[in-house]
Amino acid sequence: MKSMQKLLDQISEEMQKAFEAAGYDGELGKVTLSNRPDLCEYQCNGAMAGAKKYHKAPLMIAQEVAEKLADSEVFGEVSAVAPGFLNLKLKEGFVTAYLNEMRETEKFGLTMPVNPETIIIDYGGANVAKPLHVGHLRPAIIGESIKRICRYAGHDVIGDVHLGDWGLQMGLIITELKKRQPELPYFDEAYEGEYPAEAPFTISELEEIYPTASAKAKEDDAYKAEALDATHRLQDGERGYRAIWKHIMAVSIVDLKKNYTNLDVDFDLWKGESDVHDLIPGMVERMKADGFAYESDGALVVDVKEESDSKEMPPCIILKSDGAALYSTTDLATIMERMEKYNPDKMIYVTDKRQSLHFEQVFRCARKTGLVNDDTKLIHIGNGTMNGSDGKPFKTREGGVMRLENLIREINEEMIRKIHENAGEKGYQVDEAQAAETARIVGLAAIKYGDLSNQAAKDYIFDMDRFTSFEGDTGPYILYTIVRIKSILAKYEEQGGKLTDAVIQEATSVSEKSLMLELTKCNAVLEAACEETAPHKICAYIYDLANAFNHFYHETKILTEEDEQKKAGWIAVLALTQEVLETCIDLLGFSAPERM
Ligand code: ARG
Repeated sequence: MKSMQKLLDQISEEMQKAFEAAGYDGELGKVTLSNRPDLCEYQCNGAMAGAKKYHKAPLMIAQEVAEKLADSEVFGEVSAVAPGFLNLKLKEGFVTAYLNEMRETEKFGLTMPVNPETIIIDYGGANVAKPLHVGHLRPAIIGESIKRICRYAGHDVIGDVHLGDWGLQMGLIITELKKRQPELPYFDEAYEGEYPAEAPFTISELEEIYPTASAKAKEDDAYKAEALDATHRLQDGERGYRAIWKHIMAVSIVDLKKNYTNLDVDFDLWKGESDVHDLIPGMVERMKADGFAYESDGALVVDVKEESDSKEMPPCIILKSDGAALYSTTDLATIMERMEKYNPDKMIYVTDKRQSLHFEQVFRCARKTGLVNDDTKLIHIGNGTMNGSDGKPFKTREGGVMRLENLIREINEEMIRKIHENAGEKGYQVDEAQAAETARIVGLAAIKYGDLSNQAAKDYIFDMDRFTSFEGDTGPYILYTIVRIKSILAKYEEQGGKLTDAVIQEATSVSEKSLMLELTKCNAVLEAACEETAPHKICAYIYDLANAFNHFYHETKILTEEDEQKKAGWIAVLALTQEVLETCIDLLGFSAPERM
């Protein structure tokens, strides 16, 4: 696949040649974006750094370098200014050629890795039989985006939902079910026949059973003991309990899949904690035999403390004193299994950042006990909390845990309201079915962009009004921009213009050049977003790009332009802008409607 040099690298090379031609070290010729956009587009501060080395006034060095660039094909304007900066503007022709090449090159010229990595992304992390709540929203959104970004960047990426499907919640449900329907064959230890194919509960019953059981266990020690015992017996393989567990899994997973699908989040693997149950004894034996795991207060642990630790680093517990496996046990066994099956270069986990100690312990333990290779990268992306306007984790109006589907419903209702409002202002009729579909698409963009535009580790406030606004740094604003471009392109075609024939021409206005310069950054931004697992960089970029486009749009009468070549040039810039924006939002995990 063809790739393109990033623009900053290309223009830095030109600058390096000039430094060398003037007799200075080429290393000094690094070009960066201008921090005075009112004065120039790019700048180079190399003369300042060279001053010490060459015992010369920086301004003199800058002037000498500027002279060497007088006939440059890259730089149109080079001015040496006190105390020694080089202020730069690119030649229109150079930018145009870069963009026309970008239009012809796959993935906007993004360089593909020579050795693609195999990356497993563990995200989602829903707990079976518990309703999906807003706490699981961020890992799903962030993980999905990272998966798409790394895949686009050329890596082999496997997404695993890694369900919480093996814990106390299962014992609680079994216990409660036994109280309600003791006559079921699952509870008859003498029963040897086949168990019913049909689950003894529906998803709504299940969603009621779990919280009821969980509340009872908090008040009643005997009940809790029963649930713990049931969990044990389930894990030890009791036939009837395993059969109930299968029902719980089947009923919940259908519901979880529906929820994740509504979020446009999908997984390659639907694995869970239970899948590695049978690998645990072997792993434990190995850790013991190698002398890593030892008994401490009845539990089996591995020390993970390191000399340089400044914070408390408790040992990683492998088995509890009653022999039961924990969250860390299944995570370690899963790492072992993944290494055997996929031999990944990297495993990325996206969960709430409050789990960071857990992952630190698990990663250290995996490394120390040799479950992974020395160069296997283990990364935890701990996300901050989505808070309500009170700054506390987002709740329902009544103060309860917000279910994900309710949050989505609220956003969709707000979007429908906005669509009507917008139609009212513009005086057109709303088609209800279409409005519902548009609301779904735009609502999802509002949620996802609102989330991803923050750095993952930071907490943020979910602000319905702001997130759903068509103006400002929001998902709907980006979509609105895309829809606007689509409509101009459609009109151009109606006028008989052909998009495929349009070729980008040299910029004739400042706003057009700014838009073009934003477009040139695309490949560099995508590369950085992948390397730094940072979807927020894509958000920041498309916000700038959308602003640059809208600025240009407000200043330019595109469709009424009489110079056909000029008009076609603008259309080509628009088509590229649309393509970049749509690619970027796809990497963020949402899409644009036809109309808004
Ligand atoms: N089920 C867990 C939770 O709800 C998240 C699982 C994340 N993945 C993992 N491998 N531990 O917090």
